[in-house]
Amino acid sequence: MANPSILILPGDGIGPEVMAEVKKIISWYGDKRELAFDVSEDLVGGAAYDVHGVPLADETMAKAQEVDAVLLGAVGGPKYDVLDFSVKPERGLLRLRKEMDLFANLRPAQCFDALADFSSLKKDVVAGLDIMIVRELTSGVYFGTPRGIFEENGERYGVNTQRYTESEIERVARSAFELAKRRGNKVCSMEKANVMESGILWREVVQRVHDEEYPEVELSHMYADNGAMQLVRWPKQFDVIVTDNLFGDILSDCAAMLTGSLGMLPSASLGAPMENGRPKAMYEPVHGSAPDIAGQGKANPIACILSFAMALRYSFDQGDEATRLEQAIEKVLADGVRTADLMGPEGGTPVSTAEMGDKIIAALDASL
Ligand code: IPM
Ligand code: MG
Repeated sequence: MANPSILILPGDGIGPEVMAEVKKIISWYGDKRELAFDVSEDLVGGAAYDVHGVPLADETMAKAQEVDAVLLGAVGGPKYDVLDFSVKPERGLLRLRKEMDLFANLRPAQCFDALADFSSLKKDVVAGLDIMIVRELTSGVYFGTPRGIFEENGERYGVNTQRYTESEIERVARSAFELAKRRGNKVCSMEKANVMESGILWREVVQRVHDEEYPEVELSHMYADNGAMQLVRWPKQFDVIVTDNLFGDILSDCAAMLTGSLGMLPSASLGAPMENGRPKAMYEPVHGSAPDIAGQGKANPIACILSFAMALRYSFDQGDEATRLEQAIEKVLADGVRTADLMGPEGGTPVSTAEMGDKIIAALDASL
């Protein structure tokens, strides 16, 4: 049987640096665990714009549709701020999500014991935190039409449309319930049913999917603004949160910060199963391209490496190997190895991006 295939899209800013460490980890699995992958690489974001004049070439899109998993670094940078909206680096990312139909975006917010002091919240509020935000990723106000900037009576107005069909809500609700069954068995659904019709429908459909298919999972509903407040007040009340595209964008940033470092958080974007049974999938760190530190070897590669761990778990059915990688990272952090973003007030000498990667490889070696 052919090796599973991975398309690497390092992108812009720190993307290529953190992805270089992931490539080392992928090679390690080939060398030490007989888990070989067919890896190819291409351009996305500003890097693609520089070469092709678009943030994602059609050939790259076609490759992404064919592989078992896409690993993406980050896109964007100040150099591209002046570009027309239609060719901004972010459009490359949104095209991948939309055309691969990656409707379920899994954003775990996990607090590593060694880093509990880094949160802006009190240690007992975040220590041991492990929640999963499931964000709908291919619909809602990000993609709804009509959209645009129009003019009426000599004045311009901007329009975006929040639109959800029942089937779009159903499928992301199922993803959330399925995940919950393998975790704490609890789902909290967030919308604004008090002001939005799309929220009323969202609540109704999530409840129906629950009652008909997942009655054994505990389900609650919350207005998204209250959800934001509860996330900061006592985040450990949550297990899985399911929400729409825009609320999910905002709530996941909030959840990310609870854990102390954005440089630590991975994500998976999953679609429907392909012919080989694997879901269409793209994995990417939650952080951005961090142009201010790009090219200096300062970036933390852990979010990107943990994204590969999610690929092992959700695309390649290698949950044990994913756990091995996650534990290697925990070990390295417990040993006090820190990139610059993880330096506390007590100081110390940060390791470089590459040194962090090497330490994780050493911990993987030690796990054998
Ligand atoms: C995210 C980002 C993107 C989004 C941007 C870069 C288009 O904020 O993945 O959360 O808004 O979805
Ligand atoms: Mg965001």
